[in-house]
Amino acid sequence: MSIWTPSSWREKPILQQPTYPNQDELNKVLAELKNYPPLVFAGEARSLKSQLASVSRGEAFLLQGGDCAESFSEFHATNIRDTFKALLQMAVVMTYAGGLPVVKVGRLGGQFAKPRSSDTETFDGITLDSYRGDIINGVDFTAESRMPDPQRMIKAYNQSAATLNLLRAFATGGFADLHQIHKWTLDFAHKGEISQKFEDLAEDIAQSLKFMEACGINSKTYRTLRETDFFTSHEALLLPYEEAFTREDSLTGDWYDTSAHMLWIGDRTRQLDGAHVEYMRGINNPIGIKAGPSMEPEDLIRLVERLNPKNEAGRLNIIVRMGADQVGDEKNGMPRLIRAIEKEGMNVVWSCDPMHGNTIKSSNNFKTRPVDSILTEMKQFFQVHKAEGTFAGGVHLEMTGKNVTECIGGSFVVTEEDLSSRYHTHCDPRLNADQALELAFLIADSLKEAHK
Ligand code: PEP
Ligand code: CO
Repeated sequence: MSIWTPSSWREKPILQQPTYPNQDELNKVLAELKNYPPLVFAGEARSLKSQLASVSRGEAFLLQGGDCAESFSEFHATNIRDTFKALLQMAVVMTYAGGLPVVKVGRLGGQFAKPRSSDTETFDGITLDSYRGDIINGVDFTAESRMPDPQRMIKAYNQSAATLNLLRAFATGGFADLHQIHKWTLDFAHKGEISQKFEDLAEDIAQSLKFMEACGINSKTYRTLRETDFFTSHEALLLPYEEAFTREDSLTGDWYDTSAHMLWIGDRTRQLDGAHVEYMRGINNPIGIKAGPSMEPEDLIRLVERLNPKNEAGRLNIIVRMGADQVGDEKNGMPRLIRAIEKEGMNVVWSCDPMHGNTIKSSNNFKTRPVDSILTEMKQFFQVHKAEGTFAGGVHLEMTGKNVTECIGGSFVVTEEDLSSRYHTHCDPRLNADQALELAFLIADSLKEAHK
């Protein structure tokens, strides 16, 4: 194996990258980013890794969720707060009803770059570059907006820094105190079955807290009641940006990508000898790898050997996104991946991404996902792990705390006709807060069942 450096990926074939029109400007921006302060500390990434090691042993559950693509136009404190609230609600449901501690990781504070199935897009006879996320180009269908602009990396960095700053404040400044549980309910929450279920659970927790208070256990005496750990993650797609934030940790001398605590490799860029795998093998953060329907067991084994040669627990998260129809399939689904990993004795966390294998076009031409398929894939994921004697370790979601109408179905039914009403995503359809909470209850039931 050749020597790894933060730039050794540049010698490898690379997919899904923009072509910047002006290389001098690109290099100037990258030189500037290299001098910017890191967004996270290596010690925090190590702490996440040790929490993920507990997940790999079945002692905790990983909740990873947030936007498909963060955008400059939706950058607002209330959006960050509401996604954070939705994640807190989900986590408390899983912890209280499911009985396991939850490791919370946002797809936030840097989730900007998007892989696309086609390099170009044609509309009314005009062909332009595809939108690749706000860190690269603009979503508007004009030649000017679609032109990759390196300055966008600076804007994305600043937005990530401000987002992370607010998330840290929410996590440790009192907002995440369990005594505030009633305040996490989102203002618009529908007064349906699911929000009632949450209110009941919140009431139970409030009663338990009163009892604990009487025993002298309160937010002042116990940090875990008052604060929570919250981590960030994004797809490490735009490698020049990630390289600029790759820093040597002064405590250990190891390399970390300091743009987020956890990074993952997408399903389209996981070629064993490609640039993305080369980059990721050298950073010491916890990392994820997406496994879609085309992932063969031998490919997965080679990737795990390359990315986690020391078989470190908590280092590697396999994020399975096969679709409700395929995940449980004996011939092509997840069971054969699990068996291959188990046979090699490899330490991994298994997560379920029930979003990316269940995308369809509605009859009125919206890219959407049926909540039913999402719930079904999640259930199947638990069933397969139960049958294989392994741990269903986590979930990876595209979701928001906003009352959007992007996925169809759910207990508070969103219909195809509703899609046009609040369809705000810059990329893939997200679960709204009600739909995400419904999924959290399903996960809680499955966790209880799995850990009986
Ligand atoms: C994503 O997570 O937004 C994504 C593009 O996923 P995948 O790489 O699994 O297609
Ligand atoms: Co997506």
